[in-house]
Amino acid sequence: MTVSWKHVAVVVAALAMGGAAPAAAQAPSDTTTRIDAPKGPWGYHGASSKQGYAPEQPIAFPHPVHVQKAKMNCQYCHFAANKSPDPGMPAVGTCMGCHTVVKAQSPEIQKLAKYWAEKKPVPWVRIHKVPDYVQFPHMRHVKSGVTCQSCHGQVQKMQRVFQYSSLNMGWCVSCHVNGYDPVKGEVASGYTKAADGAFQLAAAAPVAAPKSFLQKFFGSVVPEARAQEAAAPAPAAPAPAAAQSPALKKARYDCAVCHY
Ligand code: HEC
Ligand code: HEC
Ligand code: HEC
Ligand code: HEC
Ligand code: HEC
Repeated sequence: MTVSWKHVAVVVAALAMGGAAPAAAQAPSDTTTRIDAPKGPWGYHGASSKQGYAPEQPIAFPHPVHVQKAKMNCQYCHFAANKSPDPGMPAVGTCMGCHTVVKAQSPEIQKLAKYWAEKKPVPWVRIHKVPDYVQFPHMRHVKSGVTCQSCHGQVQKMQRVFQYSSLNMGWCVSCHVNGYDPVKGEVASGYTKAADGAFQLAAAAPVAAPKSFLQKFFGSVVPEARAQEAAAPAPAAPAPAAAQSPALKKARYDCAVCHY
């Protein structure tokens, strides 16, 4: 039997936890990253992809340099987020518009150029996935102004993308029932609105994706993301319940809204 680094990490983790359980029993049965993260108000976590999941990608695509330095809008690449259930992934041609010239000698860009030459799409490893019996329409959320970062965290700071939210049913329903607060959504986005109404990035250091398996098990991404939230400017003091912001956006939550 071959022993992967993940298994080694599990053994180390089990030992560090005082050997509470035999290492073998803790070996993950799939390729996801297990972290001890809060599971949302209902505590239910089933078939959605896992919070903290940060798979290695075929090309180490850095969001920070594209969004923060090159000032690209999320929807330049995820072009269908406001008009389709599926936000869309950029075609290789979109990348090559710049990378025929930009950093053409870099090893990562050469991998990209190889897919381009072979007329193949980049086989990106999908991170976020709700089970097939759930419908999630991106456009409904994006059109009603829910910021990408409210659900995905500040992707513009992630050197490697990780799943920020649990995607469990309680997470969906609690936002639909309690309502989306645009002010909180803007704070979560890490962008600030300029005088002319255009969004600007608030300056901040990049957030590193988990670097080692040990980090994934212990330090890990969710506390990091929470720290990121804590570091964001505090929103205005909450209004008393009776005088809640009229701008709160509620959504339907009968079963058939999300389940076919
Ligand atoms: C706002 C969206 C939303 C609404 C409304 C909703 N669900 Fe869900 N539901 C989900 C999501 C997302 C999951 C998958 C969670 C996971 O697997 O982590 C789920 C999972 C489930 C599951 C688990 C299935 C399994 O295989 O474990 C059941 C059962 C379920 N929902 C029933 C209901 C019922 C009954 C209602 C109405 C009272 C309802 N849902 C309303 C989003 C929703
Ligand atoms: C230059 C193109 C580009 C821009 C701009 C861009 N992305 Fe991406 N995005 C990608 C590519 C390529 C991937 C797949 C590789 C990866 O996961 O890093 C991706 C992956 C993602 C994923 C994970 C998808 C999955 O599999 O679940 C999310 C979420 C995401 N992007 C959100 C954003 C957000 C939010 C912004 C704006 C802040 C943004 N992206 C801007 C190209 C882009
Ligand atoms: C609008 C122009 C533009 C587009 C479109 C674009 N990039 Fe980039 N990319 C850049 C710039 C600018 C840099 C930073 C170059 C530097 O560090 O000097 C960069 C850096 C990179 C790097 C890091 C290279 C290294 O060795 O440091 C990778 C990998 C990359 N891009 C992949 C992609 C992929 C994949 C796509 C398509 C999903 C894409 N880029 C689309 C402009 C672009
Ligand atoms: C209300 C929460 C929410 C918002 C807002 C949101 N997303 Fe998502 N995103 C999700 C969920 C849930 C999934 C998984 C959907 C599925 O499995 O069908 C997902 C999946 C994705 C994927 C992977 C899709 C694929 O085909 O691989 C990308 C890329 C993405 N989102 C980008 C974005 C961008 C960019 C924005 C803003 C323009 C955005 N999302 C806004 C919740 C959200
Ligand atoms: C951050 C808040 C937030 C989260 C989290 C969220 N939603 Fe929503 N959702 C909204 C808002 C706001 C709308 C728009 C309501 C409208 O257009 O009137 C919406 C609309 C929808 C609709 C269309 C409803 C209709 O009336 O047809 C569906 C379906 C949906 N969401 C499913 C989901 C699922 C599934 C999840 C979890 C995977 C989820 N949402 C998570 C805020 C959220």
